[in-house]
Amino acid sequence: MRFSLLAVCGLLAGAIAAPTAHSRRHVVHERRSRLPANWRRSTKLSSDAVLPLRIALTQSNLDRAEEFLMDVSHPDSPNFGKHWTSKQVAETFAPSDETVAAVTQWLLEAGIVPDRVKQSQSLNWLHAEVTVEEAEALLKTKYYRYTHSQTGQAHVACDEYSIPEDIQRHVDFITPTLHFDAKIQAPKKRRALDEREIDIVKRQTSAIGHDVQPGSAHAIGSPGDASLPKKGANIPFSTVLTELENCDVSIVPSCLRALYLIPEDFPAHPNNSYGIVEYTPQAYLPDDLDMFFRNFSPALVGKRPTFESIDGGYLQTEVEDFGYNGESDLDLEYAMSLVYPQTVTLYQTGDSVEGASFNNFLDALDSSYCTYEGGDDATQDSVYPDPYGGYQGPEDCGGFTASKVISTSYAYNEADLTPFYEIRQCNEYLKLGLQGITFLYSSGDYGVAGNGGQCIDTTTGAYNNGTSGMFNPSFPGTCPYITSVGATQVKPGATVTQPEEAAESVIYSGGGFSNVFSMPSYQASAVKSYFASHAPPYGPDRYNTSQTSRGFPDVAANGVNYVIAIDSAFSYVYGTSASSPTFGSVITLLNAARMDVGKSSLGFLNPALYANPGIMNDITAGGNQGCGTPGFTAVEGWDPVTGLGTPNFLKMLPYFLSLP
Ligand SMILES: *[C@@H]1O[C@H](CO)[C@@H](O)[C@H](O)[C@H]1NC(C)=O
Ligand SMILES: *[C@@H]1O[C@H](CO)[C@@H](O)[C@H](O)[C@H]1NC(C)=O
Ligand SMILES: *[C@@H]1O[C@H](CO)[C@@H](O)[C@H](O)[C@H]1NC(C)=O
Repeated sequence: MRFSLLAVCGLLAGAIAAPTAHSRRHVVHERRSRLPANWRRSTKLSSDAVLPLRIALTQSNLDRAEEFLMDVSHPDSPNFGKHWTSKQVAETFAPSDETVAAVTQWLLEAGIVPDRVKQSQSLNWLHAEVTVEEAEALLKTKYYRYTHSQTGQAHVACDEYSIPEDIQRHVDFITPTLHFDAKIQAPKKRRALDEREIDIVKRQTSAIGHDVQPGSAHAIGSPGDASLPKKGANIPFSTVLTELENCDVSIVPSCLRALYLIPEDFPAHPNNSYGIVEYTPQAYLPDDLDMFFRNFSPALVGKRPTFESIDGGYLQTEVEDFGYNGESDLDLEYAMSLVYPQTVTLYQTGDSVEGASFNNFLDALDSSYCTYEGGDDATQDSVYPDPYGGYQGPEDCGGFTASKVISTSYAYNEADLTPFYEIRQCNEYLKLGLQGITFLYSSGDYGVAGNGGQCIDTTTGAYNNGTSGMFNPSFPGTCPYITSVGATQVKPGATVTQPEEAAESVIYSGGGFSNVFSMPSYQASAVKSYFASHAPPYGPDRYNTSQTSRGFPDVAANGVNYVIAIDSAFSYVYGTSASSPTFGSVITLLNAARMDVGKSSLGFLNPALYANPGIMNDITAGGNQGCGTPGFTAVEGWDPVTGLGTPNFLKMLPYFLSLP
């Protein structure tokens, strides 16, 4: 972290009250119940040793964040499209002047004068070099050296610390104190979690009482990840059906263009960009792209996505099969074909040992997220250099530019993670939405059940085999600041000019209601009419019936019978993994059209879509069975199966061009 030289003295000029040291009531701010495994307290630190004291300040204006996002995303707002810069975001959510002044005053009373105190460029931290004696007086604590019994590594910490009661609301946390963020030199192979990690994770449960498992977040992209697309039969190319009348059994790019009225060769705009995120070991194979392009997009033969490697992300070739190449081949073959000549950026994230999580990706886009609310969760997110022997470079923190549209075809169950973890990540989507970035996530392939078809036992909170129990919504699908994409199919025997229905072949569109996030304002009237006219026949033993929680998905696109080139053969695939990049392609072309007339990217889509559902093709047939039920049913208007429906480019184009 770099600290700007603008010290905080300016803020205090003329406002310094007489020091009132010792007159304030101190309260314990953080306390440890027991030491992490293998660490032992050794000697007392000498009082003249110097510590890099860092104080994480509480942010301001978070309670107004949704209002700010609506201001730039709601079609009725005069500020529609007036996206913020990252500097504006940082300044708006930065700690208030009052917070900085209060903490600076407290430091002054302890003899740490303002010109020794620096504020970080992200504005969230105060930093001062202080002696142990000063820190101990300030925090009413004692500092010790701690030693790791196996590695001999040393670490400076204390067991608890106190701060004045009236300062507490301004301070998130302080380091070095309790936090053992020292990276332990780990064995060079993947190991079981140590006692301390297990202990941390054991105390965590999801919103509906499911025990959180360590490593759920960075397991995405591994071949067993149930959010990956589902493989169908291999097909010799001579038998691939490419005619529009066969789109009910064989989806190729021309089917999607016909279904959603997507123009071919739509002019690219140099400032436009479309990003696809992949998590190693998932990787595309160049030969597969060319095999696909030769048959469906000849102009793209030899073309590759712009490659961005995050946290050691690379195109692994150690293993080649559907479980490793299917997702990336699918996403890139379709995204690149549908937006051509617009280019696609590939964010290849994580090494193939430890992998990476959505948080690791977000860290790479926004350095302030790396430390926001204490930073990532070491039991869920990956740490680099990889302690298990993979990528040895530093963790990426900022430095990557976000594409205007970012599609991710991976997802967690909401019950895999804690509400704190999810709310923290969801707030980051909000901040990036303020900057004009559209985030799309696939809604899941198991209907109302979770990844792999798991549902939740109502008494124990454990996952079951999916024949009964609570519905298991998808995350980030339930975050109100992303656009969640469900899946449809061409009705058997129907043509591309007839209405589609919810996907019911191999996969079922993920959908339902959150147990964590409340209903966003943009969705309120759509969800209200859904309940008024089509109340689902389930009670609170199945899903959150409060009618106050976030419903998903928001939209849908075809996800059944896609023909892809995979490992040098053609094959069918199924999944909302296909729907999300297809929907993102439509938005990317709309952005190009807006930029062409000097307008901004669309950014966060949902408020405009819910306010104008007529620009979508409403889906009114099919359902998303799961957990031993028929699930929800697609009906007129929004529904928790296909959302507002599929895109209609020719209706969306004039509408979005009419907005400021
Ligand atoms: C692209 O964006 C830059 C920076 O906002 C702007 O100066 C430039 O005019 C844009 N280019 C085009 C072709 O619109
Ligand atoms: C799923 O679990 C239920 C309840 O434990 C059991 O009765 C049923 O046989 C299981 N079904 C399958 C397909 O494993
Ligand atoms: C239902 O969702 C809301 C969020 O809107 C949450 O506060 C509430 O706890 C949830 N209820 C249950 C039973 O999970």
